[in-house]
Amino acid sequence: MNQRPRPETGGCDETRVLLVDDEPLVLEGLRRSVSTEFAADLAEGPEEGLAKLKEDGPYPVVVSDMRMPGMDGAEFLAEVRTVSPDSIRVMLTGHSDMEIAVRAVNEGQIFRFLTKPVTPKTLLATLRACVAQYHAARLEKEQLKIAIDALEQLDLGTLTALARAIDAKSAWTAGHSERVTNLALKMADAMGLPAKSLEIMHRGGLLHDIGKIGTPLAVLDKPGALEPEEVQIMRDHVKIGVRILEPIPCFREALPMVAQHHEWLDGSGYPAGLAGENISLHARILAVADCYDAIVSDRPYRKGLPKQQALEILIQRSGTQFDPVIIEVFTRLNVAGHLA
Ligand SMILES: [Fe+2]
Repeated sequence: MNQRPRPETGGCDETRVLLVDDEPLVLEGLRRSVSTEFAADLAEGPEEGLAKLKEDGPYPVVVSDMRMPGMDGAEFLAEVRTVSPDSIRVMLTGHSDMEIAVRAVNEGQIFRFLTKPVTPKTLLATLRACVAQYHAARLEKEQLKIAIDALEQLDLGTLTALARAIDAKSAWTAGHSERVTNLALKMADAMGLPAKSLEIMHRGGLLHDIGKIGTPLAVLDKPGALEPEEVQIMRDHVKIGVRILEPIPCFREALPMVAQHHEWLDGSGYPAGLAGENISLHARILAVADCYDAIVSDRPYRKGLPKQQALEILIQRSGTQFDPVIIEVFTRLNVAGHLA
């Protein structure tokens, strides 16, 4: 097939797109529509598409027709997801294929679907959105790599720097991890926990929200209420955090703080619904400090509340969300003027 020469910018050129359709004339038309901004490689069907991905990939964007002989577009794009997980996937459908297309979107197989015939303007706008999405995902991966590299150093100075980097992702969380750690350490100290516990809590506190590196900024900084899917994405920061720290032996003891800081004493928290003493003491202490700091800090959707009001909220949740013994300690520290 008559292919346009590859740009000289290497394998990750973000203007490259793979177009897959069993009709050569349609393919040629699509290529012409985007040729002002994108260098399209063409594949006449799913097998050729997969072969191109393996030989000439990665492609930032893959656009596939729905109806093709052998493997249909949904199956093909599911396969693309396995072979080239970073590629942003788009499906072209006729109106009659709408149900399949919607299912493919919902199952996360594709980023967008377009109905035929598609205008050059719509196709170009879609490809631009795909490239932006590809960019954002790559940036997040790079941040994740920086975080893991920094963890190899493991001294508290580095961990503090990393905590600042985590919090700096969103202007709303600046300084959160350090403040929460300081507060949690004051409580642990007041409870007479041994030095070893304080050391574990220092590490766990600083990195308790490390999983937020994987939370999209659009969700972290959303100025209004989160949709149910967004709530789930937000909650996933706990699992992501555990996944990041799990392989590091010296974090083993701090891991429960990362995994359990959103569990509630009565079992209605997340992610595991643990209750009572099944939640580690360190995590129960951290949960109080974390919630207090969140309440007194400004958030994109509300202003921070006064300290006294925050304390009252914590007391109201004693026995349901929080361990009453820890709330007691927290109240005492407040009365003694030890809370910043
Ligand atoms: Fe958190």
